[in-house]
Amino acid sequence: MKIFLDTANLESIRKFNDMGLLDGITTNPSLMSKEGGNPKDAMAEITKIIKGDVSLEVVSTEYSGMIEEGKRLRQYGKNVVVKVPMTPDGLKACKSLSSEGIPVNVTLIFSANQALLAAKSGAKYVSPFIGRLDDIGQDGMHLIREIKEVFSNYDFGTQILVASVRHPLHVVDAAKIGADVVTLPPDVLDKMLQHPLTKIGLQNFLADWDKLKSGNPDIKI
Ligand code: E4P
Repeated sequence: MKIFLDTANLESIRKFNDMGLLDGITTNPSLMSKEGGNPKDAMAEITKIIKGDVSLEVVSTEYSGMIEEGKRLRQYGKNVVVKVPMTPDGLKACKSLSSEGIPVNVTLIFSANQALLAAKSGAKYVSPFIGRLDDIGQDGMHLIREIKEVFSNYDFGTQILVASVRHPLHVVDAAKIGADVVTLPPDVLDKMLQHPLTKIGLQNFLADWDKLKSGNPDIKI
């Protein structure tokens, strides 16, 4: 399963990229707004740091605006995936951009039918928002299972990009289902790195090493 980071924060992107963990990035207008500054600078920098796919989202809601913005966004790099909303104009833009060889991520997917339609329009990725479904008392992970089952019956080539991930359990469940990608907020990826027994284990190793060294101060690894 590929791991994308769901952020426009350059410090987090550099931090996890240096660990070799990132296969790509997803952003959206809210994430850009959270960072402030000029989003153009952030987009240029992210597409430089990351070799894999970087989803940059349009803000136009009608077809011609989406195409114009999509083409402008694509100028940031060959790794740019244009993110369009799951609307009739979004699917029309998905169809046009995809047929010109520009990959598209259809976002704000909340049903298997929406995922099916986005796949038929030629999307490279569909982004089902599982956390937002959980938030309204529905089972977000059930949607991933449904989309996986539907896609496995056909040959769309569209990848399931699990979005709106809220905690590490979401990631394990998505991996068990066989989702293609998860996009993670930096805090979720941070939590995945940690385990209390790892921390205690390391403290114990270092304390024992100090004991050994106290009798032989010249010892070095
Ligand atoms: C996906 O690409 C979106 O950026 C994202 O996962 C939205 O998640 P949220 O529900 O935490 O805003």
